[in-house]
Amino acid sequence: MYASSLLRLLAFAAAASAVPPKRSYTAHSSSSIENLKRHIKNVVVLEMENRSLDNLLGGQTIKGLENPINNGPFCNPYNLTEPSQGTVCSSAKNMDSILDDPDHSVTGNNIEFYGTFTPNNADIASGKLTPAQKGFVYEQLRYYGDDANKTVLAKQVLNYYTEEQVPVLTSLVQNYLTFNHWHSDFPGPTAPNRAFVLSGTSAGHGTNDEDFDADKHGLTQRSIFQQLSETNRTWKNYYTDPAEQMVDAWFFNWTFTSGNQGLAVPLDNFYTDAAAGTLLDFSFIEPSCCGLGTTSMHPTGLISQGETLIKNVYAALRASPHWNQTLFILTFDETGGFHDHVPPPLAPRPDELTYTEEAPNGEDYTFSFDRLGGRVPTLLISPWVAKGVVEQKGTNSDGETVSYSASSLLRTLGYLWDFEPFTPRVGGSASFDHLIQSSKRTDTPVSLPDPKPFKQILKVQKPQQQLG
Ligand SMILES: *[C@@H]1O[C@H](CO)[C@@H](O)[C@H](O)[C@H]1NC(C)=O
Ligand SMILES: *[C@@H]1O[C@H](CO)[C@@H](O)[C@H](O)[C@H]1NC(C)=O
Ligand SMILES: *[C@@H]1O[C@H](CO)[C@@H](O)[C@H](O)[C@H]1NC(C)=O
Ligand SMILES: *[C@@H]1O[C@H](CO)[C@@H](O)[C@H](O)[C@H]1NC(C)=O
Ligand SMILES: *[C@@H]1O[C@H](CO)[C@@H](O)[C@H](O)[C@H]1NC(C)=O
Repeated sequence: MYASSLLRLLAFAAAASAVPPKRSYTAHSSSSIENLKRHIKNVVVLEMENRSLDNLLGGQTIKGLENPINNGPFCNPYNLTEPSQGTVCSSAKNMDSILDDPDHSVTGNNIEFYGTFTPNNADIASGKLTPAQKGFVYEQLRYYGDDANKTVLAKQVLNYYTEEQVPVLTSLVQNYLTFNHWHSDFPGPTAPNRAFVLSGTSAGHGTNDEDFDADKHGLTQRSIFQQLSETNRTWKNYYTDPAEQMVDAWFFNWTFTSGNQGLAVPLDNFYTDAAAGTLLDFSFIEPSCCGLGTTSMHPTGLISQGETLIKNVYAALRASPHWNQTLFILTFDETGGFHDHVPPPLAPRPDELTYTEEAPNGEDYTFSFDRLGGRVPTLLISPWVAKGVVEQKGTNSDGETVSYSASSLLRTLGYLWDFEPFTPRVGGSASFDHLIQSSKRTDTPVSLPDPKPFKQILKVQKPQQQLG
């Protein structure tokens, strides 16, 4: 009797003095998924273009982010086969616009990562050949070196933006959650990477071919859009490009055969939907691509114009009645040929398909979609994520520690909206359901700083080339 009332008293005292416990969740667990479902009703994805983590977030000094300012400088030889030509190292950048778009084809990524256009696939798969990330400068010089200053070319691919140069991103990094190990799913160009984000595979496509065109809508695999519609969930694809060239829902055949092509609408609608509280379950936003005057950050587009788009989307969500139940994911499609020092890991093949292209040296290279591309900046932005946190690697559902990738998005949305992974790539990826907290923050900034257009705009060195 005495003992039990003392225990009760002790328990009461402990409860009264304790701060409300902060739950921490384990990825893929039922309590984590339940927490995610309870708090997140609207998911908004803004997918920008062609920037690596070391390039765009390379100057962020936040602890835990591995980048040139925290861990560098990182150096590349000017010439992979002629060491006497010297090396060049990363430093802060003063270019708002990169005028010589770096090579980011499959074989371009090969030489940038492995130092050869045609690395031995068996050696890569067995772990005998690992990427050294030393060929970025070489490939930029090979591509543009005939009539351009090689110091400038090296800076284009190797340098990084300082915190002051990207104030919008800096504020987001300091207020929300940034992934240190988020890779694109495919070491190649835009359209296949965008297909990976939305369907867990590029269905064997390795370049921006005509199947991705809106009038062809040649991709027949299941997309997130089809999945949501068939389970009575709602979505819109907001696009910015007036020429309607970048509308990812229109890649997919189902979008047209089901008569849902009208769910892709101009970006203005996003701002009115956010203000009115009429955002649907899933909003997928595309910037305009890819030159001066566009918002994607794709060369030659200005970094500052991309920051303006991010700032506007954030402000609309922050002021929206939906803010208290929104998860905003800011990500990039691929690295665009910009240097990143972290070697891309191997990953499960999404399907049995392969892609072959002719390398600049005339040899054929066949890719079997068994490894990721470079790291891209990705942030979770929501009143439900921790402030100023850098997330390291994640875990897949087999309990293995793996890097995050674009497929982590579909893995996590599958938990939120009850669908199975579309492909083994998605099934094997790390989910991020556990990064949603059990309590809502009240300290999220109402607006972000103004972007900074840089003073110096470099002269075009060579007309932009059509890069895979
Ligand atoms: C967000 O706020 C609205 C209105 O106050 C409320 O109806 C809704 O349940 C809230 N959502 C969450 C997930 O808290
Ligand atoms: C690199 O050096 C080799 C050997 O000297 C030379 O043949 C080649 O043209 C150089 N490549 C570039 C891009 O400068
Ligand atoms: C190349 O550009 C750098 C940096 O702008 C400059 O210092 C250097 O003089 C230029 N070199 C040549 C050969 O023009
Ligand atoms: C896709 O859908 C259209 C109808 O809009 C159809 O005519 C076409 O054959 C389909 N294409 C593929 C590749 O399945
Ligand atoms: C979706 O809604 C329709 C019409 O209300 C219903 O017949 C169907 O069973 C629902 N499907 C799912 C997967 O909930």
